Amino acid sequence: SPLKRNLTFRLQQEGIEIPKNVDGSRQGENIIDLLRNYISQELSKISHLHPNNIFSAIERSKNVKNGDLLIPIPKLCSKGDNARELAIQWSKNFPRNQILHEVKSNGHFLQFFISPSLLSNVLLPYILQSRDKYGSQFLEDRKTILIEFSSPNIAKPFHAGHLRSTIIGGFLSNLYEKRGWNVVRMNYLGDWGIQFGLLAVAYRKYGNEQLLKENPINHLFELYVSINKDRDNEKMQDKLVLGRTIDDEAREYFRKMEFGDPEALSLWEKFRKLSIESYVNTYRRLNIKYDVYSGESEVSKNSIEIALKSLLNKGCIYENKGAKIVDLSKHNEKMGRVLIQKSDGTTLYLTRDIGAAIDRYTNYKFDRMIYVIASQQDLYARQLFEILKLLQFPWADNLSHVNFGMVQGMSTRKGNVIFLSDILEEAKSRVLKIIRNDVNKLSKIEEPENVADSIGISAVIIQDLQSKRINNYKFQWERILSFEGDTGPYLQYAHSRLASIEKNMDISSFGKVQEIDFGLLREPEALELMKILAHYPDILSKSLKNHEPSIVVTYLFKLAHAISKCYDVLWVAGQPNDLARSRLSLYLAAKIVLNDGMKLLGITPVDRM
Ligand code: ARG
Repeated sequence: SPLKRNLTFRLQQEGIEIPKNVDGSRQGENIIDLLRNYISQELSKISHLHPNNIFSAIERSKNVKNGDLLIPIPKLCSKGDNARELAIQWSKNFPRNQILHEVKSNGHFLQFFISPSLLSNVLLPYILQSRDKYGSQFLEDRKTILIEFSSPNIAKPFHAGHLRSTIIGGFLSNLYEKRGWNVVRMNYLGDWGIQFGLLAVAYRKYGNEQLLKENPINHLFELYVSINKDRDNEKMQDKLVLGRTIDDEAREYFRKMEFGDPEALSLWEKFRKLSIESYVNTYRRLNIKYDVYSGESEVSKNSIEIALKSLLNKGCIYENKGAKIVDLSKHNEKMGRVLIQKSDGTTLYLTRDIGAAIDRYTNYKFDRMIYVIASQQDLYARQLFEILKLLQFPWADNLSHVNFGMVQGMSTRKGNVIFLSDILEEAKSRVLKIIRNDVNKLSKIEEPENVADSIGISAVIIQDLQSKRINNYKFQWERILSFEGDTGPYLQYAHSRLASIEKNMDISSFGKVQEIDFGLLREPEALELMKILAHYPDILSKSLKNHEPSIVVTYLFKLAHAISKCYDVLWVAGQPNDLARSRLSLYLAAKIVLNDGMKLLGITPVDRM
């Protein structure tokens, strides 16, 4: 439920009039929106422009020296206006008070400076009482978003693309949830197709029930490797001597599965169930919990048939030697022709995706759906979306493909990475080694294994989300595990330092938030930190709009640096009680935001390290 003591409530407490709300802004939760509303209202009185126009002309400034918010006046000019003169005139007439303490003109810019008392007396208590709800949005009509991510293939390697999809998708799910959406997290397993026929053949030849139970993912992968070796060997042999090949057997087996043969299905069912159980454990380490484990196998035949029929009726399908093909090149040259049904009647990856989309809409009535898939499948995603549009589903306009670049050189000491858990284990053991070398450190940590796991995972996650998702990156253990520079361990360190300040002070003796004199926070370092805290909701909203995790990561580093600057100046220990209380409150507010941001990214913040 929305917080009763929101920002406007606190404004009133300070005896300040609440600005008029411009549609779509959320000044109860976002102090930057509150400022935008205030600027729009006051400048409208002066300029006689409509508040909405002013609101959309306001920009966040990149450099605090130029104000916290600014308006490039030409954005508001009509023909013949002199932007510089207007800037001078408007800044002269603009009120200065507890909301904005300074308004300046600079060339054709109008610059607005947040009042320190607004930050300390309105924002800080709001953050302290909202705790992990700070930055949340409480939407009156909750919309549903389905986010499909990770989606590995059972019995095939889990590659870097799956790792990225997992991390990015996990973050987006948390973010949408925080911003007031109802989120359905879905894993769409590659659990169907000819490779399962192949796996069944392998299991008959090399399978071991015991090994399968103990470590399903590992054993299935061994089978995958062995049978592929055998296939390669076959390819060197004479077809005529060979007779039935492994591929023939696999195809045969998969056909049985497609037509519902119970025996064929029961083996596959076992593979699938055991694999999911082991995935669940690994995802847990990344704080990911799926609502649905679906997969290519679960797509309803009915949906596929409906789609195929409808495409046929609309004249979108042509046949070639019994195979069904959709020609998309008529709509868009680059999209070409796509195979939608093989001549033996079996379905394809694309066909299943079409059916899956229909099923998902039927089951979840989503308002939006996101596919987090590598940019290698850009064309594929466009083809899929185009076909769903050809089918004239009204929801076909509500789909997005969140794509991302490649990872180079992801490997462990054991060699190339095959499983997600390998990467996480490697990260953990490397951190443990670093901690163990520092005997001093280790003695202080109560659960070194858990701490090492959280730090290791933070390193992997931060490296992945740090630059724009579309960029490729090179996986580098040494760099990402460094405790200096912009790394996961550095964020963990910043968090643990805040936690220990909190721990070393007796907070219970500090009394209620109402009794704290926030007005004592006037050092430039304190103001800078509060300003950064003020932008958190806006940062989340921008990151969501662009589906860009790096916006949050960059912000968290900026926050961590600002906190670290405060340590030199804003001492808590040994200070008079009033001062100590106000400073500690600032650190607590900073910890709330840092902690929340890290959790959104999938990191488990540590309190000691
Ligand atoms: N299993 C696929 C792969 O590993 C990814 C699935 C992506 N999602 C989808 N709906 N096609 O390449």
